[in-house]
Amino acid sequence: MEIISNPTQNEIKRAAKALKDGHLVAFPTETVYGLGADATNEKAVSRIYSVKGRPTDHPLIVHISSINLLEKWAIDIPDYAIKLANEFWPGPMTLILKKSVLANDYITGGQSNVGLRVPAQPIALALLAEFEKNGGFGIAAPSANRFGAVSPTNAADVSEELSKYLNRSDTIIDGGRCSVGLESTIIDCTRSAPMILRPGAITEEMINYSTGIGGAKNIEKSHISVPGSLESHYSPKALVLIGISPRQGDGFIAMSEIPTPHGVIRLSSPNSIEQYAKDLYRALRLGDKKGLERINVALPEGPGLAQAIRDRIYKAAFR
Ligand code: TXA
Ligand code: MG
Repeated sequence: MEIISNPTQNEIKRAAKALKDGHLVAFPTETVYGLGADATNEKAVSRIYSVKGRPTDHPLIVHISSINLLEKWAIDIPDYAIKLANEFWPGPMTLILKKSVLANDYITGGQSNVGLRVPAQPIALALLAEFEKNGGFGIAAPSANRFGAVSPTNAADVSEELSKYLNRSDTIIDGGRCSVGLESTIIDCTRSAPMILRPGAITEEMINYSTGIGGAKNIEKSHISVPGSLESHYSPKALVLIGISPRQGDGFIAMSEIPTPHGVIRLSSPNSIEQYAKDLYRALRLGDKKGLERINVALPEGPGLAQAIRDRIYKAAFR
């Protein structure tokens, strides 16, 4: 496995070629790092599942370079989905749409819908553009972590977690830290109104404002199964505790205005909600690297992105 840092255009071309040849390329997006494979190559996609140790009925998001490829992968696209795509792509938003014949069962986990996203990260977009120039249609990429673990937000975390499962011909592209730090908002666009299946940086308020129709966010009401929304997902090894007094030797994550209790190990002190999102997964992983048994988290307050952060913290805390 090769690690390429701050890739040149030629190195991006080489990585795109490797993808086209059926190898895996882990790459940065603005949300988290993805583990990519040619979305039309069954063998390559099956390696994603084995490297991640992920059940095969969990569908993958197909990444495309622009809205122009939407109709290759999806059919019966509602007007509100086109509005969302025009407004928020490239960006941290995945649309679930009725699949075209191009989206095989090995991408959709056997479901009749496909998840699509145009990431807003220069390296990811350059890689997609090169891949499509080589005749590719899209890159399937889940978060580049082992199944059930916290998503990686930098290349060192990808390499630490996956290098022993990757081959010599696979690549990790290091593009620095992810700017958003939480996985994309997933929106079910298969019904008359959008429904949020996973909260993220594109918030309910933004979606409602853009489409002009109400956006339900209650996941139980959806007819689509989202295996990644299993309660016990995104967990570090340490026990994550919410809103109780930290004990001596606990890790601690809280907004910067909350002081560190005596004898407690501060893992993150973000001074904004955006910073909290960006730093959360690094901080949880840091707790594990320090071998901590417990990580105490003070939940951020408020709507929007804070809601997405709380969602991930609840999932990390679930046992
Ligand atoms: O920000 C992100 O979305 C990152 C970056 C790499 O793009 N990707 C990511 O992928 O978080 P993953 O596979 O770790 O999580 C995607 C979630 C999974 O829970 C999966 O079940 C759900 O999206 N999903 C994907 N396609 C779907 C579909 N067709 N129907 C329902 N859920 C789907
Ligand atoms: Mg994931």
